[in-house]
Amino acid sequence: MGKKILRTKLCDILGIEYPILCAGMGPSLVGEKTGTPKELVVAVSEAGGLGVLGASGFTVDEMREEIRAIRKMTDKPFGVDLLLPSQTVSAGDQVQKEPREIPLAELIQTLPKAHFEWIMKVKEELKLPEIEAMVKLDSTVYRPHAAVKTCIEEGVPLFCSGLGNPGFMVKDAHAAGMKVLGIAGNTKNVRRIAQSGVDLVVAQGYEGGGHTGRIGSMALWPQAVDAAAPTPVLGAGGIGDGRGIAAALAIGCVGVWVGTRFLASKEGGALDVQKETILKATDEDTRRSYLYTGKTSRAIYNRFHDLWEASGLEPLPFPTQVIFSSAMADMFNKAQKEEFMGPFSGQVSGLIKEIKPAAKILEEMVEEAIDVLTRRLPANVLARELQF
Ligand SMILES: Cc1cc2nc3c(=O)[nH]c(=O)nc-3n(C[C@H](O)[C@H](O)[C@H](O)COP(=O)(O)O)c2cc1C
Repeated sequence: MGKKILRTKLCDILGIEYPILCAGMGPSLVGEKTGTPKELVVAVSEAGGLGVLGASGFTVDEMREEIRAIRKMTDKPFGVDLLLPSQTVSAGDQVQKEPREIPLAELIQTLPKAHFEWIMKVKEELKLPEIEAMVKLDSTVYRPHAAVKTCIEEGVPLFCSGLGNPGFMVKDAHAAGMKVLGIAGNTKNVRRIAQSGVDLVVAQGYEGGGHTGRIGSMALWPQAVDAAAPTPVLGAGGIGDGRGIAAALAIGCVGVWVGTRFLASKEGGALDVQKETILKATDEDTRRSYLYTGKTSRAIYNRFHDLWEASGLEPLPFPTQVIFSSAMADMFNKAQKEEFMGPFSGQVSGLIKEIKPAAKILEEMVEEAIDVLTRRLPANVLARELQF
């Protein structure tokens, strides 16, 4: 693109050209790849935004390797996102003796009886194949402290915490020259995270993909900006183009954190079939439920949602519910029962009509945001304060 300027103070804080971050997105329940693999991180950072590795599905060692690989691919700033819910942080790291991977079929036997029996019943009724997936017991989700320490040792430019409050690690991160970002879905948590000393807060609205709260972006962003002040806020949830960016900036956000639009990019970590599903989706085709992780998360609506609702089962706490949903997802995937599968995805899916390279998506977002802010608004709105 010819030289375009779209700068806010976020660009100075992070040393980037445009105030656009690609959200850290963890792994899909089926398939190996994380939502924001290193290729997507690098593409966004190289294009002038900032890419964030979704590291919740990696072991600590794998995460370290990914960080080092990103460093070899770009000298631009990037981030790493971990899930740090308070229960797992306060429980401490679970040190695993060998083996570090166990068959999912074995692990589901540790679930409450009702959940285990339900899996077996549906397996039989739908004639689903055996569960073959393996589960990493030493992933960053089970070893939050070792994962945080590794990010600090590696001097990751931006540490992001998807769930929970990263306040406990801010001092050490700052001592290592890093910036810290926390994500929240309501004003109370935005205030709490801002007060814990982080550098940036993402306020993610109800419409967003993945874990999401109850407050819509339009209502949340201005309240979050006020509650976090003077800590800068990024808007998230429902941003798919330059119009969304201009709206977030108008409300007082210093930048944006974009998930679904970058997931459905050439480098995005969703499976091809999942990207196709997003392309076909309208704004009404997602559901928010406890089904996938035990915390409310938004995914493309599919018949697994109906089965879950009819089951009468209580959701298990995070991350135990992930064991439950992964077992079902593994069987649905193997049986190619696509009607029972749908990726994490936001309501903005209806706006996404083409899978493009991430750099192209970012370029178009920047161009459109500039166009809205400099031409479309002044052309369409008469707003003037008359001086008497
Ligand atoms: C596939 C997918 C996976 C996600 N995984 C994570 C995650 O591991 N950690 C996290 O902080 N947020 C995660 N999120 C939420 C995003 O960080 C972001 O807040 C959200 O996608 C923003 O809304 P949008 O999808 O409308 O852009 C995920 C979102 C999606 C779509």
